Amino acid sequence: MKTEKVWFITGASKGMGLSLVKKLLQEGYNVAATSRESQRLIDAVGPIEGPQVLPLEVDLTSEKSIGEAFERTVAHFGKIDVLVNNAGYGIGGAVEEINQEEINDSFAINVMAVIKTMQSVMPYFRQQRSGNIINISSIAGFAPGIGWAMYAATKYAVMGLSEVMAEDVKEFGVKVTVVAPGAFRTEFLEESSLVFAENKIEGYSAIRASHEKYAAMNGTQIGNPEMLAQVLIDLAASPNPPVRLYLGSDAYRRATEKIHLLSQELESNKPISYSTDFN
Ligand SMILES: NC(=O)c1ccc[n+]([C@@H]2O[C@H](COP(=O)([O-])OP(=O)(O)OC[C@H]3O[C@@H](n4cnc5c(N)ncnc54)[C@H](OP(=O)(O)O)[C@@H]3O)[C@@H](O)[C@H]2O)c1
Repeated sequence: MKTEKVWFITGASKGMGLSLVKKLLQEGYNVAATSRESQRLIDAVGPIEGPQVLPLEVDLTSEKSIGEAFERTVAHFGKIDVLVNNAGYGIGGAVEEINQEEINDSFAINVMAVIKTMQSVMPYFRQQRSGNIINISSIAGFAPGIGWAMYAATKYAVMGLSEVMAEDVKEFGVKVTVVAPGAFRTEFLEESSLVFAENKIEGYSAIRASHEKYAAMNGTQIGNPEMLAQVLIDLAASPNPPVRLYLGSDAYRRATEKIHLLSQELESNKPISYSTDFN
């Protein structure tokens, strides 16, 4: 089936991004896909006939590079319908272990690049009065695990940003969904993706144990990136997509536990919450 819809996906040479690109191409969509190394992306996607795919080498830390990628996409396909902010990576360590450069780098990709792509795409979406933005956050952006404070900070940022953005752009016919996956079987937990604070401080035994637990999970994560790709395709075709979407039974469970905890805390501290009002 050939469809005219044009997707723009960041971080597409592996993992969820690559699964999504492949599925979209199989289903006849047009796809602009970014990677730090376009050749790696081209090799990963494999041979595609025709102009259906546009591989873009993009530096997601550069506003100029991102802006040019959108211009090239519109020049090639004539428009953009769906932006997927997928590029991102995990960063582990105690807050006092992670240095400024490591923090800045993770925020540059996990948060600032999401902001920059949304800023770049909105003029097109406003003009055509339609468009979907799908931001990949994480269950760590709602119910984070021990040892991943900085990663949680970036993914919470994506959650908050997306929730408000969804309301802000509604009047232009633009729909925003933030996706919170649980553990998915990608390269996320590989050394080539995951970053740990170089500086290690003695004594953080709970954090080391948590990191070991995640490392042991590599290759056996319950989430299937092919199924996630299909969900994203269905979501963009939906007239009424959700603003928040938790993917994976583990994400569902962790979110449910967190909601329960939030309600309990809120109720047990209700008198204190009310006590700060002017009488
Ligand atoms: N897998 C999970 O368990 C899981 C769970 C929750 C959320 N997520 C989120 O899902 C998204 C996709 O991750 P994945 O699981 O598919 O992991 P992955 O297999 O490691 O792929 C990550 C993609 O992000 C891009 N990326 C990684 N580090 C980057 C950097 N420093 N600079 C620029 N681009 C970078 C890469 O793009 P290029 O190499 O092509 O440039 C890569 O294609 C991420 O935002 C991640 O935080 C994953």
